[in-house]
Amino acid sequence: MPPRKPVVIVTRKLPDVVETRMMELFDARLSADDHPMMREELMAAVHQADVLVPTVTDRIDAELIAAADSRLKLIASFGTGTDHIDLAAARAKGIVVTNTPGVLTEDTADMTMALILATTRRLVEGERLVRRGKWQGWGPTLMLGQRLGGKRLGIVGMGRIGQAVAKRARGFGLSIHYHNRRRVPDAIAQELEATYWESLDQMLARMDVISVNCPHTPATYHLLSARRLKLLRPQCVLVNTSRGEVIDEEALTRMLMAREIAGAGLDVYEREPAISPKLLKLENVVLLPHMSSATLEARIDMGEKVLINIKTFIDGHRPPDRVIEGVA
Ligand code: 8YV
Repeated sequence: MPPRKPVVIVTRKLPDVVETRMMELFDARLSADDHPMMREELMAAVHQADVLVPTVTDRIDAELIAAADSRLKLIASFGTGTDHIDLAAARAKGIVVTNTPGVLTEDTADMTMALILATTRRLVEGERLVRRGKWQGWGPTLMLGQRLGGKRLGIVGMGRIGQAVAKRARGFGLSIHYHNRRRVPDAIAQELEATYWESLDQMLARMDVISVNCPHTPATYHLLSARRLKLLRPQCVLVNTSRGEVIDEEALTRMLMAREIAGAGLDVYEREPAISPKLLKLENVVLLPHMSSATLEARIDMGEKVLINIKTFIDGHRPPDRVIEGVA
């Protein structure tokens, strides 16, 4: 008898080509209707699966991991961020965790630029004006925004995505500043003519645009706290395509309402998919539904990475995108 295929439970609907390959390779249990799994469904999944394929909408916390059957050996997450998984609990139970880095970098950087342009040039406000039938024709002072060329962009988190944002921003005439745990290699800093700020506070106080591109970890939770947000200049705009938790959203909302900063472009929120009604009322914010990496190409590449991570693991090798090794 051929060996039993591993049971792979995929929590959400993935592109057809990815799902078809999953079915060919594994005993894959796919999501029929793409609903985010309820807690009980996740509990059932960790009892039946050899491999779980969750997404950002699944909270894989310590309680869930503790309850998992010992057959669960791999969590092959569909996405780069892993803040929805309790990595310490997984490590303690000997469960390997993988992610899908690299393949959504360019798309996320594109959307970051789109948000920077949309906020500084009031793109969505203008569109709303037209759709509401309120536009009464061209005017010399109508819809004035801020010119990007010659302004300063401060990037919080200069990893793959931060650097991809910097490359694009240079093309728009922005000068590049960044705060990161470490300096980027000299060659990259020179190519981008990037200025490194060890002090986040000092950088924030001097920028025209801030882009948040660091992962959410215990160290970056509310990195942009109420106190730090107060350091921003009134003409500054802030965009976030990383994780909502990096910014104190309530404090940001208060400042936007008081016009203490010029605007914000947000793709991510602290309590997704809930969005503060106060934010929804503001004209000076652009609000997107966590879609920075949402291209068909990225989703297929992410799926491909998940497949490779599972296959190499099942074949007894080290999967390429290990976030943690299972060491129990
Ligand atoms: C993904 C993301 O679409 O990969 C990430 O970290 O934030 C998103 O762009 C999502 O996480 C998929 O699980």
